[in-house]
Amino acid sequence: MSFRSALDKAFDITQGLLVKAINSQAPTPLVEPMLHAVAGGKGLRGFLVQKSAELYGVGHDRSARAAAAVEAIHAYSLVHDDLPCMDDDDQRRGQPTVHVKWGEAVAVLTGDSLQSLAFELLSDEAVGNTDTRLELIESLSVSAGARGMVRGQALDIAAETAERPLTLEEITELQMAKTGALFEWSCTAGAILAGEGPEPMRKFARPLGLAFQIADDIIDAEGDTELAGKRLRKDAAAGKATFVSLLGLEGARARTKELVDEAEAALAPFGAKAENLRQAARFAVERRM
Ligand code: IPE
Ligand code: IPE
Ligand code: MG
Ligand code: MG
Ligand code: MG
Repeated sequence: MSFRSALDKAFDITQGLLVKAINSQAPTPLVEPMLHAVAGGKGLRGFLVQKSAELYGVGHDRSARAAAAVEAIHAYSLVHDDLPCMDDDDQRRGQPTVHVKWGEAVAVLTGDSLQSLAFELLSDEAVGNTDTRLELIESLSVSAGARGMVRGQALDIAAETAERPLTLEEITELQMAKTGALFEWSCTAGAILAGEGPEPMRKFARPLGLAFQIADDIIDAEGDTELAGKRLRKDAAAGKATFVSLLGLEGARARTKELVDEAEAALAPFGAKAENLRQAARFAVERRM
């Protein structure tokens, strides 16, 4: 199976569960904006959950809710990231953003609801025994919260008005948090589902998450708006601290290559079974969307 069809197949599984879970929240005025927020996108985090789970012998019956949970957190992070008080964007995944369609208050609440939904999904008995579910809930709350994604978002916003440009070390820390933390959770969830230690997959996830965000910054600088489905050429004017702002396009591209090599090397112990994760690493930096 080609990487693209494997990604699409994983997407359908994750999306199916998300739609069902959101519809089950009815009656609430938030069903429609929540469905809008989760629609589209690449589904790469959900793919990483499903494939890392397969690597540990865990099937979709158990991994799909974890995949849907991280995609719900990710969708919430995008709804809030696009708000006028954050990046102020009117397009996402080729559609108007939630606040453009329903207003800012509904967008805030849609993000809030998706965040809670993630933990509801992980509480389902189909995920595993109580210890496993608790470990997933705890690790996702840390990865998403004030020590993880939200921390990175706070550093990202603060950098816009910082008195001096961030150092490479500081930008790395910011990006490892705002994007890396959810990638790390996605890649380690399979090990947790299998009752194994997360360390081997962490070695893969850390360079992958960073490479993915650098690729996003490269797309902002030189990508195609139609393909990306969001407004581009915004980071420089907003004063965002990125690898592109510090190293230039060529420097940033060189760094993504090194990071993908590092991610692929971390998969060596898993042998041929990890081929789709190797492809995911290459896709993370070669993608144009
Ligand atoms: C966009 O993530 C935000 C970043 C962390 C760079 P994706 O590029 O994975 O967005 P979707 O889910 O495919 O829309
Ligand atoms: C967003 O980074 C990371 C999140 C945690 C949502 P960006 O602000 O660069 O993502 P895009 O470019 O809007 O998708
Ligand atoms: Mg942002
Ligand atoms: Mg943004
Ligand atoms: Mg971006």
